[in-house]
Parts: sequence; C-alpha cells; structure tokens
Amino acid sequence: MRSTSSSPATRIGVSQQIRVFLRAWMRDPMGVAAILPSGRQLSEKMLRPLALLADSDPAGLRVIELGAGTGAFTHALIEHGLRPDNLLVVERDAALHGLLRQRFPHLTVLQADACALRAPAQASGYLQQGPAHAVISGLGLLSMPRAVQRAILTEAFSLLRPGGCFIQFTYGHASPVSRALRCELGLQVRRAGLAWRNAPPASVFVYQRAFTAAYTCNPPPATQ
Ligand SMILES: C[S@@+](CC[C@H](N)C(=O)[O-])C[C@H]1O[C@@H](n2cnc3c(N)ncnc32)[C@H](O)[C@@H]1O
Repeated sequence: MRSTSSSPATRIGVSQQIRVFLRAWMRDPMGVAAILPSGRQLSEKMLRPLALLADSDPAGLRVIELGAGTGAFTHALIEHGLRPDNLLVVERDAALHGLLRQRFPHLTVLQADACALRAPAQASGYLQQGPAHAVISGLGLLSMPRAVQRAILTEAFSLLRPGGCFIQFTYGHASPVSRALRCELGLQVRRAGLAWRNAPPASVFVYQRAFTAAYTCNPPPATQ
C-alpha cells in the first residue's frame, strides 16, 4: 500500500501519536520494542552520518527509513532537506502506517516487512531513481533473532549503493548486530553517537559493507 502526493505534512497532536504508538506496543511489544517514540536528540544523531554521503547535499540524498513508527525520524529527514521523492518510508504495523500516511501525505509510505522489502520497494517505483545512499533503521533490531536480523540486513544492503550505510540505534552500549553476523555479512561497524537525553538513552551505530582487501574479520569462537 502506498501514498504519494505533493501536499505538506499534516499536524497530528503528539498525544494522538503516543496513543497510537502505545496501542501498537500493546499488540506487539517485541516488534515495537519501545514504549515511546524517539526524541529530537536521537533523531539528530541518527541523521548526522548522512553528512558524509551524497557530497553532503541533502537534496540529492536517497534514504529508506525502516520501522518509522509515528515518524520521529521521518520528520527530521524532511526538516534536513531531503526531497520527498528521495525518501521511502516503511512500517509494518497497520495503525502506525495509517498514522504516517495521515501525517506525511506527500511521502511514499509502504506497509511492509523489512525482511521482504525488495518487491514492495520496486513496486513503489522508488528504485527507478537508483539505489539508496542510506537506510535509517528505527527497528528494534536488538530484540530480533539472528535469522531476522540477517534477513533485514541482507535486504537492506541489496537496496543500497556501494558505500551506502545502514544507520541503527539501540538502547545499549554494544552493537545490536553481533560480531559473528557482521563477519558473515562482511560488515564494518562504527559507533556514531550517544543520545543521552533520549528516553531511554540510545547509541547510534553505522554499518557499511567492507570493500577493501584489508578487511579482516575474526569471528568469535563457536560456543560449545
Ligand atoms: C522501536 S520502534 C521505533 C519507531 C520510530 N522509528 C521511532 O524511533 O520512534 C520500531 C518500529 O519498527 C516497526 N517494525 C518492527 N518490525 C518491523 C519489520 N519487520 N518491518 C517494518 N517495520 C517493523 C514497529 O512497528 C515500530 O513502529
């Protein structure tokens, strides 16, 4: 399902956004994986790594947002100067998807599963302009089984251009993608910030495909 138009963002009260988010959490606590939408400081930290992409020109940046929730990062991306046709927003929950469509009628918002994104992304027409520079992930990756993480990362990197990055937040200090899975997928990781004012505080990690011959990966020893 998609929505595209050129009308500006619609104002939807914060209390309504929180109500819809909380109901989604009650339906699927593990999937939503947070009881409050992300705050402004975390949104800023999530967008900071974009400065290194597309010659720092926000108008040329192409971004896919996964697990948009009520649209905290979506709003920040538009404020950052992203062109609406360069942004593809993805949310699995039907009620949150409905809210996003209402809040951002000028954007393409898909109700889709990040594990199987290529077909809906293709059908939306987004990929006709080429692959994305970045994926901004609001997914609760840490609470997902490794097989689901693998499916999401594989799908996401298939939609990214070479050098593209996958930006992820987590409510812990360590990377939510284990070293073993990073090695398997050939990913490098760096920590890109801490949003200590967020509730709860969150760290931002950036994952990129390692292209250099110098890339070495020492997977952790297998457990008995
Ligand atoms: C931790 S919340 C973050 C919401 C929002 N990005 C924010 O930061 O406020 C995770 C969101 O990802 C969505 N989600 C979970 N699994 C998903 C999947 N496989 N595909 C797409 N969205 C998913 C949930 O419905 C929820 O809205």
